[in-house]
Amino acid sequence: MGRNILATAALAILPLVNAQQPGTLTPEVHPQLPTWKCTTSSGCVQQDTSVVLDWNYRWFHTASGTSCTTSSGLNRTLCPDEATCAQNCVVEGVDYTSSGIATSGSTLTMRQYVKGSNGQTNSVSPRAYLLGSDGNYVMLKLLGQELSFDVDLSTLPCGENAALYLGEMDRTGGRNPYNTGGANYGSGYCDAQCPVQTWNNGTLNTNGQGSCCNEMDILEANARANAFTPHPCANGSCDKGGCGFNPYNRGYTNYYGPGLTLDTSKPFTVITRFITNDGTTSGSLSQIQRVYVQNGKTIPSAAPGGDIISASACSSAASFGGLAGMGQALGRGMVLTFSIWNDASGYMNWLDAGSNGPCSDTEGNPTNILANYPDTHVVFSNIRWGDIGSTVNVPGGGVSSSSSSSTRPSSTTTTLRTSTRPVSTTTVTKITTTTSAASQATQTHWGQCGGQQWTGPTACAPPYACKTQNPWYAQCL
Ligand SMILES: *[C@@H]1O[C@H](CO)[C@@H](O)[C@H](O)[C@H]1NC(C)=O
Ligand SMILES: *[C@@H]1O[C@H](CO)[C@@H](O)[C@H](O)[C@H]1NC(C)=O
Ligand SMILES: *[C@@H]1O[C@H](CO)[C@@H](O)[C@H](O)[C@H]1NC(C)=O
Repeated sequence: MGRNILATAALAILPLVNAQQPGTLTPEVHPQLPTWKCTTSSGCVQQDTSVVLDWNYRWFHTASGTSCTTSSGLNRTLCPDEATCAQNCVVEGVDYTSSGIATSGSTLTMRQYVKGSNGQTNSVSPRAYLLGSDGNYVMLKLLGQELSFDVDLSTLPCGENAALYLGEMDRTGGRNPYNTGGANYGSGYCDAQCPVQTWNNGTLNTNGQGSCCNEMDILEANARANAFTPHPCANGSCDKGGCGFNPYNRGYTNYYGPGLTLDTSKPFTVITRFITNDGTTSGSLSQIQRVYVQNGKTIPSAAPGGDIISASACSSAASFGGLAGMGQALGRGMVLTFSIWNDASGYMNWLDAGSNGPCSDTEGNPTNILANYPDTHVVFSNIRWGDIGSTVNVPGGGVSSSSSSSTRPSSTTTTLRTSTRPVSTTTVTKITTTTSAASQATQTHWGQCGGQQWTGPTACAPPYACKTQNPWYAQCL
């Protein structure tokens, strides 16, 4: 057990060394998943990264093989406190294949269901994190940067949720003298729903505390619906609902799905840009922009002015630090998290049913999913992050501003409005207003005045001038 649970210090103090041997029944071998870090000046550099399964999915047991957990949490005889627990129990390595996780090259596949050795189907619903070669989580610093990856959601029906998101977990997973494994064993989970877990930041949670932290949902999706959502936190509470962007919910009901504008029957690339007010990696987060690439082409956005969450439109987050607070967390660094799950209580209706998507209220029932889609799985690949415009070499998603502007359709937004315009008159009215504002209004000091997919004002109120920061952002300075 030495690797993960028990401290050298504790070993020295406690004579019961036999109760403290490593949990070696299953060696912990992290599936390799190379990723890329990119800059505009030097291109992309491969990172030596892997994935690690979350701590809560592991067998926690005594040296003799008795489980240290019961149906209602930890066995309090074996784990009355941190030190005794570390003396009695080890956390075990996992078999990744039977946990629903496989990697190959830069591709990560995660399955909802796995066939057990007895031939039965187990719902494994894995959650995993991106781990660095130093045994700590990779801290992605995405303020003023972008993140890209390819995804195949074609086998995910209504009610499934393949998620790729960022949480402000501790880099070491809360590694401490009683939990020497830390991030190497997937510890330290937290998110903006403030889950009350047995462990909190790698230590025993003895006072029922919630594990709250800033969360940026880059993609929560199945083949029928999707959303990206910032959930900032401040002073111990979080914006649990978030101010997300779900195209269907915004009225663009024919945009996302099998055979639609963004065709989810095939893989596509998801680019997410965290634009700051001054174009730097230390400014205030002013916009989160989404761009999709499929079949080598930038797909027109769902919303006419681009699929954008702006600071001003993110009012639900205001009392939690707003988009700026989310940006500060992105600047400090966040842990990349992957999961696939379904939801026996709400059938994931918040993502894909009612006003959020085309699914019925009941088809997301896991019983239905298991019966009809036992093979459901997500494939994430080619994960890259870095300077805006540096991670995807495609016109409009891509590296060079000149090639981007020359090969882009001259009026993406116009094409878009015709093809994906929502039927709702309210939304149409809004679009019209935006359009006329775009051609007439002037932007104020610090405001955005240009960039790809920008349809707002391009002139600045005197005495300010519109300065291009990068192909995606120009600002009145
Ligand atoms: C807790 O562990 C003790 C010691 O191994 C054992 O005797 C007891 O049955 C366990 N309790 C439960 C509820 O499993
Ligand atoms: C989590 O644990 C680590 C290691 O003990 C510690 O440095 C860090 O401050 C903790 N974070 C929080 C939010 O408590
Ligand atoms: C958090 O609390 C501090 C101290 O009370 C306060 O100054 C700050 O404005 C609060 N932050 C938010 C976002 O409410």
